[in-house]
Amino acid sequence: MQIIHTVSELRHWSRQQRAAGKIIGLVPTLGALHAGHASLIRAAHKACDAVAVSIFVNPTQFGPNEDFSRYPRTFDADCKLAEAEGADVIFAPSVEEIYPNNATTFVEVAELSDRLDGASRPGHFRGVATVVSKLFIAAEPDRTYFGQKDAAQVAVLRRMTADLRLGVEIVVCPIIRDPDGLALSSRNIYLSAEERKQALSLSRAIRRVETLFTNGVSDTTVLIAAAEKLLQNEEKIRIDYIALVDWSTLLPVEIATPGTLLAIAAHVGATRLIDNTILH
Ligand code: PAJ
Repeated sequence: MQIIHTVSELRHWSRQQRAAGKIIGLVPTLGALHAGHASLIRAAHKACDAVAVSIFVNPTQFGPNEDFSRYPRTFDADCKLAEAEGADVIFAPSVEEIYPNNATTFVEVAELSDRLDGASRPGHFRGVATVVSKLFIAAEPDRTYFGQKDAAQVAVLRRMTADLRLGVEIVVCPIIRDPDGLALSSRNIYLSAEERKQALSLSRAIRRVETLFTNGVSDTTVLIAAAEKLLQNEEKIRIDYIALVDWSTLLPVEIATPGTLLAIAAHVGATRLIDNTILH
């Protein structure tokens, strides 16, 4: 496995692969890789001939009071995991490489970027859309792999890719969970034992809504109230949002139907966690 630090080397690698007739897969990450990321790399390895994994803690998607400086950085372990899952290249650029001369060019997906996580994290999706478009431009992938875990991010990036006609296929992979239901996240390491226990109420609330929906309840006021009730029982949890929305517009729906996205964000102590499901 090759480790690449510059955009020009990544582009060179990608063009060599394409010239050899290979299908190129890209898996963008912030690093601190876990089994969720591993599942994306595995999926890319299965469907593509050459796989690049980017590891870049992107400063522009973190708010001023967020965890950019203390975000976990575990580069050596990340390389081992990526290689074991079939990555051919790690792209690990510096901030200066991605934002040369304090770059002033940004990509903004209007409207969508102000919904769900975008509403509570102003500027977050502008940072995500900007870095992902730079990664697409540098790696020129055929396919890119994202987790449903960040469902609003997927909606923003699908829209960006369509609006800019980037011609990149976006593959969305299922949420990987710990056996007790907690969705894997690089931020789970911030949780105390007690917080981790209470954090389980997020996946519990999701399962509760899924069951109600399967049993015929589709009024979203009723479904949201049921989820709220479970989360409100936990003293360390502060709900950010519980929303039933159309996955492509991220706008609330009154009546849930198969395909409706149930998304939850909550602060568990000082840690903000998200989880979701697509009702079926
Ligand atoms: P990061 O949080 O590192 O996540 C990288 C990818 O892994 C995302 O597509 C995310 O949805 C996916 N992922 C995270 N946890 C997962 C889980 N439990 N199951 C399945 N997939 C999971 O998302 C980002 O980085 C950044 O915003 C990025 C797209 C790299 C842009 O900087």
